[in-house]
Parts: sequence; structure tokens; C-alpha cells
Amino acid sequence: MTPEVRTERLLLRGWQETDKPAYASLNGDPEVMRHFPTPLTVEQSDEMVDRMRGHWASHGFGLWAVERLDTGQFIGFTGLAMPGWSNVPLVEVGWRLSREHWGLGFAPEAARASLAFGFEHVALPADEIVSFTTTKNFKSQRVMQKIGMRHDPTRDFDHPLLPHWHEKAHVFYVIDREMWRVQQGSGVAR
Ligand SMILES: CC(C)(COP(=O)(O)OP(=O)(O)OC[C@H]1O[C@@H](n2cnc3c(N)ncnc32)[C@H](O)[C@@H]1OP(=O)(O)O)[C@@H](O)C(=O)NCCC(=O)NCCS
Repeated sequence: MTPEVRTERLLLRGWQETDKPAYASLNGDPEVMRHFPTPLTVEQSDEMVDRMRGHWASHGFGLWAVERLDTGQFIGFTGLAMPGWSNVPLVEVGWRLSREHWGLGFAPEAARASLAFGFEHVALPADEIVSFTTTKNFKSQRVMQKIGMRHDPTRDFDHPLLPHWHEKAHVFYVIDREMWRVQQGSGVAR
């Protein structure tokens, strides 16, 4: 059973079969998928929902389906995941929302709750949570900055699964427990 988390404006909850059509439509939008190699087909999107459920079942954390509390609409995902390609265990915070819900601060709001869940409830392999995106995905980098992560250029990398992709260059951001704790105390993360 996926734990539910409520923020001021959002419900982070487990995936339902009924989320699949809206999730497929978000993944089929070229603008949402601008910094990915291609939009996803319905089959690929549905498989991703099944994989996200599987991640929750095997790790006890994962990517939540995100719902707006005011309208009850499903708007995308935010949460934690362990990237399968990394040769060292990493816990990543990530986000993907449908376009009509951008620019309202929903990704940072859900991401802060994800960091809290990670630092409070997950046995992290290293005492840090990381995030990465292509060097060109400035919106996503802005979310990382807004939630108090810092860029670590020494860990920037070319994505190993996408050696020929024009956006293979990725920036690497990190927040460790001490940075997160200081933010809680200062109120910056609220
Ligand atoms: C990335 C994403 C989740 C952001 O979600 P969101 O809820 O709209 O985030 P915010 O409301 O905080 O807005 C994004 C921030 O980026 C800023 N931004 C937007 N375009 C920008 C640009 N070209 N350069 C720099 N900053 C930019 C916005 O001004 C805003 O920051 P501000 O509040 O300081 O003004 C959303 O755009 C998305 O789903 N994108 C597609 C999927 C994706 O790329 N996911 C990440 C993969 S790693």
C-alpha cells in the first residue's frame, strides 16, 4: 500500500488504473517530453505506471501520482526513484506534470514533501538525495534550486543509456541531510 502525503495544495498517492489515460496523454505531449528522446506511446506510458508501482512494492518508496486537492485532477508524478542505470545506488527526486499545471509551483511543493519522506522514512544508501536533468532543461533545474539542492559540477555526466542523443549531457544536483535539516530550521523549504 503506497503511503499518502498531503501538502498545502496536493495529494501524493498511489497509482490507480484510471490514471493511465491521463498519464499517457501527458507522456504523448512533445512539449512535456521536450528534454527526453521522444514522447512515449500509450503502451510505454502504461508500462511505466506498472514499473512505478513495482518500485514502491520492492523499495517502499517511489514516484507518487499527484492530484490537485482543489479539483481532484491527476496532474503527473513527483517522488523518489532509484535509477536502474547507475552503478552506485542513488535515490533521485523527480517530477513530470501535464502542461496546463506548470508555473504554479506544484513541482517544488510536491518535491519538498518527497525530500521530507526520503530523509525521514527511507534508508538512503548515502545520506543524500540527488536529481539530474539535461543541461538544457532549465525549468527542472529551477525546481532543483527552489527546493534547496546545489549543483555539483564534479558529478555532471553524459547519460549512459543515451550515448548518441544530442541532450546526453546532464547536470547533477544534490541535497544532503545536513543541508535539508538547516533548511527545515530556517523555513526556506516551506
Ligand atoms: C519541470 C516541471 C516539473 C516544473 O514544474 P512546475 O510545477 O511548473 O514548476 P514551477 O512552477 O516551479 O516553475 C518552474 C520554474 O522554472 C522557471 N523557468 C521556466 N522556464 C525557464 C527557463 N527557460 N529558464 C530558467 N527558468 C525557467 C520558472 O520561472 C519557475 O521558476 P520561478 O518560480 O522562480 O519563476 C514541468 O515543467 C514539467 O513537467 N516539465 C516536463 C517534464 C520534465 O522535464 N521533467 C523533469 C525531467 S528531469
